[in-house]
Amino acid sequence: MNDCEEHRLWPGALESVVEPLDGFDRVLVLEETASTQDFARQDGPHPGTVVVAARQTAGRGRHGRTWSEEAGTGIAMSLVLPAGCTRRLCACAAVAVARVLVPLFAAHGLHSGIKWPNDFYVVTPNGRHKIAGVLIEQSDGVAVVGIGVNVLHREWSGELAEIASSLSDHGIEITRLELQQRLITSFDEVQRFDDLELASTFRDFDLIAGSHVILEHDGARLEGRVETLDPVNGLLLQTASGEKMIDSDRVHLIDW
Ligand code: BTN
Repeated sequence: MNDCEEHRLWPGALESVVEPLDGFDRVLVLEETASTQDFARQDGPHPGTVVVAARQTAGRGRHGRTWSEEAGTGIAMSLVLPAGCTRRLCACAAVAVARVLVPLFAAHGLHSGIKWPNDFYVVTPNGRHKIAGVLIEQSDGVAVVGIGVNVLHREWSGELAEIASSLSDHGIEITRLELQQRLITSFDEVQRFDDLELASTFRDFDLIAGSHVILEHDGARLEGRVETLDPVNGLLLQTASGEKMIDSDRVHLIDW
């Protein structure tokens, strides 16, 4: 089956996944768009909508970074929801991604998980590679939860060449459609978790508790050991000058 034939299956196949769910009732499949985040907002926006694109030409990441998906080899998905707590939505999306991807890597003998607050990494003998990321944007009473996953092999340039890799680079073979279906179902389940279940599931997948990290928070550079981590309340960092509580809103993990 070529690419276009595969995409023609997406609307019907995704609608049948969404149909029994309480949280979603509409699917928009685009052959190409600049950013599914922008399309989701321009389109209404209507909570309960799932937007997916086969190719995304100007994807965004956190902190104004770009999310490169022009090659049409990944998942570019935005879920439109009623506005909520950004940190909780980010944790729900990160956990939803991890529930789908961790078993796929484990089946290949690889350790993977969440790099707080929003990244998904695989840890290999050759280093750590970013496979997926989550972006939460809120305005006018709606939240747009963006999920990007690198699925098929491609080349990255610049600093991404060092960091990024895809599922297929690690021997994982799954279609983009199958992954989209699993991610929607997983997110729908996770968003119904209470705070305790969400925090404990997040910790099951967390890669950084106990590690020595260097981070930037609100413009200040901090360094220390992560004592505990809660996806909504933040992490407790043991620094040379005492303990500090760090929230995820303005954090950038430089090294971990
Ligand atoms: C990050 O790693 O900083 C987050 C990346 C989020 C990328 C996804 S792809 C679908 C959605 N559309 C975008 O423009 N960004 C998100």
